[in-house]
Amino acid sequence: MKVKVSRKEHFNAAHRLYNPAWTDEDNRKVFGKCANPNYHGHNYEVVVSLTGTPDADTGYVFDMKKLSDLVREHVTSKFDHKNLNLDTDHFKNLNPTAENIAKVIWSILRDKIDKSLDLKITLYETERNFVEYPAD
Ligand code: NI
Repeated sequence: MKVKVSRKEHFNAAHRLYNPAWTDEDNRKVFGKCANPNYHGHNYEVVVSLTGTPDADTGYVFDMKKLSDLVREHVTSKFDHKNLNLDTDHFKNLNPTAENIAKVIWSILRDKIDKSLDLKITLYETERNFVEYPAD
């Protein structure tokens, strides 16, 4: 019987949505205010979920303190109070949409968590807008 466990962490970051192959006008049409040249910020909430079989001895799928430490060390400490476009290598050539941020976070953590556990990232860009990767 599998159980899904989740840990929520937080970071603030700035970004700009922009496709360099398009004109500024086309970027404004598609991304609206999100294409503002001087960037804007979000209070991101990232939920990291692991699904697996609880360990027979501990009853844990994963130690939540260790999960929190992993997310803080490898994700939120890298992104918090940063400009995602300018200050991180991940988004130098990748538009920092919520979709792409969730995929990047998944890639960072996938190597660090046992493959027997399914990993899912839920990223809230606002209270109303959130994405999940991978999709069900
Ligand atoms: Ni935005």
